[in-house]
Amino acid sequence: MLRSVILAASRSSRIERLVETAPLTRDVVRRFVAGSTVDDALLVTSELVTNGLAVSLDYLGEDTETPEQAAATRDEYLRLLSALRAGELTPAAEVSVKLSALGQRFDEKLAYEHARAICTAATEAGTTVTLDAEDHTTTDSTLDILTKLRADFPTTGAVLQAYLRRTEADCRELATAGSRVRLCKGAYKEPESVAFQSNLDVDKSFVRCLNILMSGDGYPMMATHDPRLIAIGEDRARWFDRSPDEFEFQLLYGVRPEEQARLAAEGYTVRVYTPFGDQWYAYLMRRLAERPANVAFFARALRSK
Ligand code: FDA
Repeated sequence: MLRSVILAASRSSRIERLVETAPLTRDVVRRFVAGSTVDDALLVTSELVTNGLAVSLDYLGEDTETPEQAAATRDEYLRLLSALRAGELTPAAEVSVKLSALGQRFDEKLAYEHARAICTAATEAGTTVTLDAEDHTTTDSTLDILTKLRADFPTTGAVLQAYLRRTEADCRELATAGSRVRLCKGAYKEPESVAFQSNLDVDKSFVRCLNILMSGDGYPMMATHDPRLIAIGEDRARWFDRSPDEFEFQLLYGVRPEEQARLAAEGYTVRVYTPFGDQWYAYLMRRLAERPANVAFFARALRSK
């Protein structure tokens, strides 16, 4: 219930203005977001890498409405990739990209061309790109663009959301040699016709999908903070004889940092998804929707200002 209300608020520009101008906001945002600029992102990335973690950087923004905004997003990624290369932070750091930030909602071809430019720059920088998954209305388009990108950039990563009923089939399609697939639960509000609604059903789907990916020939990237699923992931890695360079765990910046350190100390590859930029509102609201304790943290920060 609370999750639905917060996810609905994440699409409201009126509430966005209220939250953005609330005096709280800086400290709460800083917990989940690496800062506003490429320099902020580089600083946080080098700290994480020094601590033995890999990174995927996300320049915040989604649902871009104009070609100018889409080109500006592409250019920020190009700047980021050249800075990562200059700072010798690749291949430990890669980038995650939302196609809707590159214009997917109004011009799919434009989004594809911008994504190609980012993949080219990533290849030159010696690293990879992962295409984030957004709401289910974009899944077909995103997977189509992924297929086209993979023809020239075979390491481009996909993201599949366990809450979607279609995802088991998508896992089977993508569990092939060289294929990088991030599996997550899914962060959007989706109708029952396309998505499992109960936590238990989503978790069961996650495990079915994980089994397919871990027993397949690709490179699974298991994105969750859920202790039970992480334990199942460790178990499946042993069962399917995958060494630490044959799969990875992924967690979000600011979420369970002690677990990130524990997994890295166990010898696993751990990648921290690290967003930066000014357009943090929708991202932050999805994080609040996932965990009531985060809402309490947010409310406490509000009261203390
Ligand atoms: P969930 O939120 O269900 O929590 C399960 C349990 O984990 C909790 O009961 C608690 O024990 C523990 N836990 C969770 N958060 C905690 C916290 N803050 N502190 C302590 N314990 C906590 N989604 C999407 O739709 N498209 C995408 O491209 C991505 N990309 C992505 C990348 C990465 C690296 C991650 C980790 C996640 C995503 N997501 C995503 C988000 C994902 O779909 C999902 O919404 C969140 O990860 C929350 O689900 P969890 O699996 O973490 O468990």
